[in-house]
Amino acid sequence: MCGVVGYVGKKDCATVLIEALSKLEYRGYDSAGIAVFENGTIRVEKSKGRLANLIEKMKIDGKPDGHCGIGHTRWATHGEPSDINSHPHGNKRVTIVHNGIIENYKQIKDFLISKGYEFESETDTETVAKLLDYYYVDDPIETITKVIAEIQGSYALGIMFKDFTDTIFAVRKDSPLIVGVGKNENFIASDVPAIIKYTRDYYLLEPDEIAVVKKDEIIVYDIHKNVIEKELQTATWDIDAAEKGGYEHFMLKEIHEQPTSVKTTLTPRISNGMPDFSADGVDFDKLATYRKIFVVACGTAMHAGLVAKYIIEKIARVPVIVDIASEFRYRDPLITKEDLLIVISQSGETADTLAVVRLAKQVGAATMAIVNVKGSSIAREADMVIYTHAGPEISVASTKAYMVQISVMYLLAFEIAYSNGTITKEQCKQYTAELQNIPSGIEAAIELKKECQFVASKLMNTESLLYIGRGLDYALSMEGSLKLKEISYIHSESYAAGELKHGTISLVTDQMPVIAIATQTALVEKTISNIKEVKARGAMVILICGQSIDVGDDVADYIIKLPLVDDLMMPMIAAVPMQLIAYYTAVLKGCDVDKPRNLAKSVTVE
Ligand code: F6R
Repeated sequence: MCGVVGYVGKKDCATVLIEALSKLEYRGYDSAGIAVFENGTIRVEKSKGRLANLIEKMKIDGKPDGHCGIGHTRWATHGEPSDINSHPHGNKRVTIVHNGIIENYKQIKDFLISKGYEFESETDTETVAKLLDYYYVDDPIETITKVIAEIQGSYALGIMFKDFTDTIFAVRKDSPLIVGVGKNENFIASDVPAIIKYTRDYYLLEPDEIAVVKKDEIIVYDIHKNVIEKELQTATWDIDAAEKGGYEHFMLKEIHEQPTSVKTTLTPRISNGMPDFSADGVDFDKLATYRKIFVVACGTAMHAGLVAKYIIEKIARVPVIVDIASEFRYRDPLITKEDLLIVISQSGETADTLAVVRLAKQVGAATMAIVNVKGSSIAREADMVIYTHAGPEISVASTKAYMVQISVMYLLAFEIAYSNGTITKEQCKQYTAELQNIPSGIEAAIELKKECQFVASKLMNTESLLYIGRGLDYALSMEGSLKLKEISYIHSESYAAGELKHGTISLVTDQMPVIAIATQTALVEKTISNIKEVKARGAMVILICGQSIDVGDDVADYIIKLPLVDDLMMPMIAAVPMQLIAYYTAVLKGCDVDKPRNLAKSVTVE
């Protein structure tokens, strides 16, 4: 949510900032803006809407001319998307960009108004800018420490002080911010893709560390103004990972990357045919000792947790409670020090998920994070971290991250089941071998593109539809439904197939298509009965089922047959046509697939 960048070097700053912001637009696209030192003064250019609007505006106004500045792409929280509410905020003395939410901004604003300050925007950010101005005499570090002692909430701030025309200042808490280390140039950014064109090297800022960034020097201070030695991090992927690489959209590229992402995630965790998480520092002797496992996450990551529940309970026979992070954290959950909390997060920055890790640690529960972004807040705070290796996921709608999250949960389930003694070593090896074959199954599922395009053409004009399934297929149908609605704006709901006739079937007419998923042999007959019930009420039915399942051609209007894999692993295969159906439906409707309205990736506010 919101992207922050900064640049100091020899290049044209505005050009670098715009380029960097273009890689962070997935974090918000309600407005964009930059501030650059031009002839010793701060010049701001900003505009409501996409970055393209700012670029157009600067064609008329002219680009700020300078070598040091900050930039921002916004996902609106306080105040509607407008030119006035766009970042940067501040005045000619202090100008800032901000990602996060200042919870006590109202009190600060009232205080500053009493001191004679005037405000033009409705944002919480402007209060931070003016508070910095209020304290600023001539020492930026002193000023920043005073301000962060007063503000409450989350922040990643890029700051310019008028008397320091070759320096940007940065500080963060509960919102991500890295300091990119280049040659004769340095950067700040919310995320690595923004700087990868220029450098792979960066520092991670700990909460309330203050970075002073110049062209050829970076100094990081703690809150007591002590200089801190930082460990240099290096991104393991290259610039191609953050480019579309010939695909029309990042989402399509990321769907195609799934086989590789799964392989890269699993391979280092399998040795001698058995799951092996020792390099992740996970103590698996302890795994068998937990009373319950809680899996908590948001959105698609939570759906990955639902698949995990079915698998872990089925083969390891341990109770698994899956919950939405924003619900779990506020319902006084019955988690104790006997339990294991597993959180799942692509970004590692989701505010509610992070809060759940903190809550579980407070009660003494063991915490494990399945995270894609290295060094992210959740990864740093959890006791154990298993990194997924999907590479950067740029499309707002998650695809490859979901796939790798599930793949890790499978391997974990096998490990837990083996530790618990509910499966033998031989069975564990067999499951693991089957999992290793899944990438080729995913490849084959991607080949179902034509069928998915056809289905999309049948769905594009519909207003509302249902996804149904049983067991693992129900968990999967939730993800299929979310994917479709978030990018095509077609209303859809997912239902446990057997639950339909307890109310929802009254919605079914010839105007309500139904997508049924039936990959679990033991449940197929039951799901087919439910399909017949909706067909009898006029619904057009699209059935996604396993190749080996003999359903008869007339059971549904369109049938997509999936490549053959073990029933247990079917979610990883069946997810692909659901992603493709959502993708092609959104494309046919002319939607902005990678940047659906109102959404942003990395939800750092609750
Ligand atoms: C949907 C989607 C979201 C995220 C959710 C959690 O396609 O991407 O539902 O899964 O916002 O985000 P992370 O995984 O970053 O915690």
